[in-house]
Amino acid sequence: MTAPVLFVTCALPYANGPLHLGHLVGYVQADVWVRAQRMQGREVRFVCADDAHGTPIMLAAEAAGETPERFIRRIQESHERDFAEFLVAFDHYHSTHSEENRELAAFVFERLKAAGLIRRERIRQLFDPERQMFLPDRYVRGECPRCGATDQYGDNCEVCGATYSPTELKNPRSALSGAIPKLQESEHLFFRLSACEPFLRRWLAGEVAHPAVRAKLMEWVEQGLRDWDITRDPPYFGFPIPGEKDKFFYVWLDAPIGYLASLKALCRRTGEDFAPYLDPASPIEMHHFLGKDIVNFHGLFWPAMLHGAGLKTPSRLHVNGYLTVDGAKMSKSRGTFILARTYLDCGLPPEALRYYLATRLGPGVEDLDLDLKDFAQRVNADLVGKFINIAARSTALLSRAALSLGPPPSESEAAGETRERAQVLWQHAIAELEGVFPDYSAGEYGRALRRIMSVADRVNEYFAAEAPWRLLQQASAREDLRLILGTALQSFRALAIALAPVLPDTARRVAALFRETPAWRASEIGRWLAPRELAPYEPLWTRIEAANIAAMQERSREPSGTQAAPERQSSTPAATLGDFERIELRVARIIAAERVEGADRLLKLRLDVGPLGERTVFAGIRAAYPDPERLRDRLVILVANLEPRRMRFGVSEGMVLAASEEGGLPRLLTVDDGAKPGMRVR
Ligand code: MSP
Ligand code: ZN
Repeated sequence: MTAPVLFVTCALPYANGPLHLGHLVGYVQADVWVRAQRMQGREVRFVCADDAHGTPIMLAAEAAGETPERFIRRIQESHERDFAEFLVAFDHYHSTHSEENRELAAFVFERLKAAGLIRRERIRQLFDPERQMFLPDRYVRGECPRCGATDQYGDNCEVCGATYSPTELKNPRSALSGAIPKLQESEHLFFRLSACEPFLRRWLAGEVAHPAVRAKLMEWVEQGLRDWDITRDPPYFGFPIPGEKDKFFYVWLDAPIGYLASLKALCRRTGEDFAPYLDPASPIEMHHFLGKDIVNFHGLFWPAMLHGAGLKTPSRLHVNGYLTVDGAKMSKSRGTFILARTYLDCGLPPEALRYYLATRLGPGVEDLDLDLKDFAQRVNADLVGKFINIAARSTALLSRAALSLGPPPSESEAAGETRERAQVLWQHAIAELEGVFPDYSAGEYGRALRRIMSVADRVNEYFAAEAPWRLLQQASAREDLRLILGTALQSFRALAIALAPVLPDTARRVAALFRETPAWRASEIGRWLAPRELAPYEPLWTRIEAANIAAMQERSREPSGTQAAPERQSSTPAATLGDFERIELRVARIIAAERVEGADRLLKLRLDVGPLGERTVFAGIRAAYPDPERLRDRLVILVANLEPRRMRFGVSEGMVLAASEEGGLPRLLTVDDGAKPGMRVR
């Protein structure tokens, strides 16, 4: 009987911002596990998707001046590009805003309803009269009801740690409009989680997660489960609830169903039958990889929903801790809030991060640290200094001696002692490396890599002790030389197979060196490759330079819009509509633009602001516009109520808006045809 198929998912990244290095922890962890399973002969379906619904995404799209559909498509493209470059190879990548998901969400909901697990209740929530919308907790700010601290979120106080409901906040304000929210009633549907307690107790009694995770989940169960509000009122970007008027599913209802939607789309593509993945009686295993912050959704609501709907429940949750950088939470001011894209743009190899993260990963939920100094040292020492070094030195000697790869020690014609020592090394290497794949399966990546590096150390010691370069000139020692280099290279190949789940791209190149197709099985580790000519050696790795890491930190410090945190679209504190209103932006037409003697950054602009008359503005945009004449008649945006500023060359009466990267060339913001000078920007 063949082992059952593994259905593996990763937590779906929110479609509201780019991926950062913290995100990558869970995705790399899952990808390594999937590759290791496949190398052990297991069949896997590995899927993910963008999590596209909810208020933050709706507001982010609005702020970007795009429809939500367009906005989420753009973000999804960036996620897929990043995953591909970090070699996270999903079989399918979908979106929760898809037909498959709409159908499956409706299907699960109808089943829950039929099972009597949905109930109605009228509830009162804070409502923003200006924006005409109910306010999610984090969009309400006010004074903490316990300690009185000002400007606290609607659900907890960052000063004293109190948790409360937003209706308890004193002097609440809408973070969106600044308006005073009022209480308004609305009918909501609830999922009766409380009724699922017996099932959850049974489910949690199984090996469904690391003991620490199960203990946490049990603690919540013991505290008493409360029913779960699955409803949101419009405006909301999500799926309308079937059979209800003006009600939407809360994003966390359809998000995990997105796992199934992505799998369904994959099945449709490959022609595989989707039904067994829903069937509680099928032997298929369902594995979810996720971060520790979303354990409640995956360990309570999700299994309860699936069970309530009569569907297959998760086999195992693989939960990762949080990534810190240089020992602290990722921070923009320290330059440690690093986007996946910034890492790539600074020329750092994706596999280096995979390797480093893997050395830090175990089966538990502890946080893990990316120490940027240690990162470069570790990767250079282990991968370049120990691992690649074996191949670089052995292939160099092999080609100088014009030798090919020979037979194993037992069949070699080398001297008896050389054969014996080769045999000892080879046996040690493969015996130790046999433990690597079981380690991967158990989530013990750190242990697997320590094993691998200890073998690499042994091979290097062997190489140094045999000193094969001394045999180059001895015609009688050719078979000894061939066996020593062969043993080092065969061990190197075994190491590459053991590293393949973490370094799939390097593995591919090593396979090419040995003239093999790269579909290595774990069982290949113990096999001495048949004698052959090697392909010409191409450098397999280069060292990480401190300069690249410094550049990455520098870029991450930029307070530019592209460095947005996943929860927020801006790097500056939230502004109210009122803040925005205080700045008067007007359309202006450039009447004249000229260079300023003695100021090589500035252009002097004469602007027509319609009813507001004419203004003179000095703008630091000369580098980008070497031919200022051509700016004439361009429509630009003027900050019209800025205090006039006296400069060496005259008074600047406002400021024109331009966009730029830190230290990059500024680009004027221009206005579409049809706009007239003096129009207010709003
Ligand atoms: N959309 C939800 C998940 C829905 S799953 C049905 C979500 N998205 S997220 O973009 O905020 O996070 C995606 C994954 O990245 C989650 O597993 C989250 O725990 C993980 N991480 C986000 N920041 C992280 C770190 N700093 N460190 C480690 N993992 C982190 O949650
Ligand atoms: Zn407080």
